[in-house]
Amino acid sequence: MIETKVLTVSPHAPEPTLIEEAASIIKAGGLVAFPTETVYGLGADALRAEAVEKVFEAKGRPADNPLIVHIAHEDHLFDLVDEMPAKGSKLAKAFWPGPLTLVVKRTFLVPDNVAAHLDTVAVRMPNHPVALALIRAVGSGIVGPSANLSSRPSPTTAQHVLNDLRGKVNLILDAGPTTIGVESTVVDVTVDPPLILRRGGLPAEAIEKVLGRIHVSNEIEMLQRSPGTRHRHYAPVARVVLVDEGDQHAYAEAMQTFRQEGKKVGAIVHSPKLSDLERSEFIRAVPTSHEFIARHLFAFLREMDERGVDVIIVESVQEDGLGAAIMDRLRRAAEIPS
Ligand code: TXA
Ligand code: MG
Repeated sequence: MIETKVLTVSPHAPEPTLIEEAASIIKAGGLVAFPTETVYGLGADALRAEAVEKVFEAKGRPADNPLIVHIAHEDHLFDLVDEMPAKGSKLAKAFWPGPLTLVVKRTFLVPDNVAAHLDTVAVRMPNHPVALALIRAVGSGIVGPSANLSSRPSPTTAQHVLNDLRGKVNLILDAGPTTIGVESTVVDVTVDPPLILRRGGLPAEAIEKVLGRIHVSNEIEMLQRSPGTRHRHYAPVARVVLVDEGDQHAYAEAMQTFRQEGKKVGAIVHSPKLSDLERSEFIRAVPTSHEFIARHLFAFLREMDERGVDVIIVESVQEDGLGAAIMDRLRRAAEIPS
């Protein structure tokens, strides 16, 4: 166990002394959780294998699940990337800093454990003043997996990080809740057309506007190119059950069935049809906007666990824009653990 310090930092104009303190921990091989626009990340020096090893240990992350290296400046790519394909440059130019991760061929400087022994590395430039200031102060890339225990919902507040990683990280930079709420979109640009390996905060439609048609990986491609995706993800302790959008009948039936089994049932619903059926402290009736649902989804799943709910019934959303990432996370959360 190590002592975990929490420092409140301004999300817009991070205090240089706090950033320096955080950077010196990373430079010394320690772990700092930091905010990004998507979720909180767990930072360590990306070029030091033994620092990266601590990240896997702290999260309980399987070694075959590679990490994203976060950069603050295009120059940071030199250490990491052998060659940036033209389509990768185009995407970086259009969307960095932002919720986009590019998978590219890596240099020999990238430790094997960062890449889970693949010949590629994932890189992204986050759009958050605290993350950018921290990386600049370190002077080179830092790894940043979501700062949760492996398999749990990703953390969108410093409190979520503390709940999962107290005693395992040196410092948490608390800049308030993150804005996007789902992780970055991961795009493999070593192939043409580029392949989306993980749906995320940058909708596929936005990428297609820049590149034209792209591919979204099916489960098999995803497993081949991103082996860590086979592990359980985003799951609260409670069982997650999905119902179709606006399907009153399926919703009422699921409620009744689980209650008859003596289960404590919670729900996250958004369409008026379902929201108006019943109100209780275990039922979250939320606005229909994809932005709102993405921003709060992981927090709601964690909150249901804290309330001791056994089953969470979640209403599906339409799969356009951010809705595709929301449904991806929900389907994975709903998988029965093997
Ligand atoms: O928004 C985000 O991306 C957040 C914030 C903190 O930046 N980070 C994040 O990291 O979600 P993590 O470790 O939870 O997810 C990394 C994803 C995984 O799906 C992993 O399989 C994929 O990126 N990945 C990393 N390196 C890869 C590689 N070389 N090839 C294919 N997929 C890779
Ligand atoms: Mg994660």
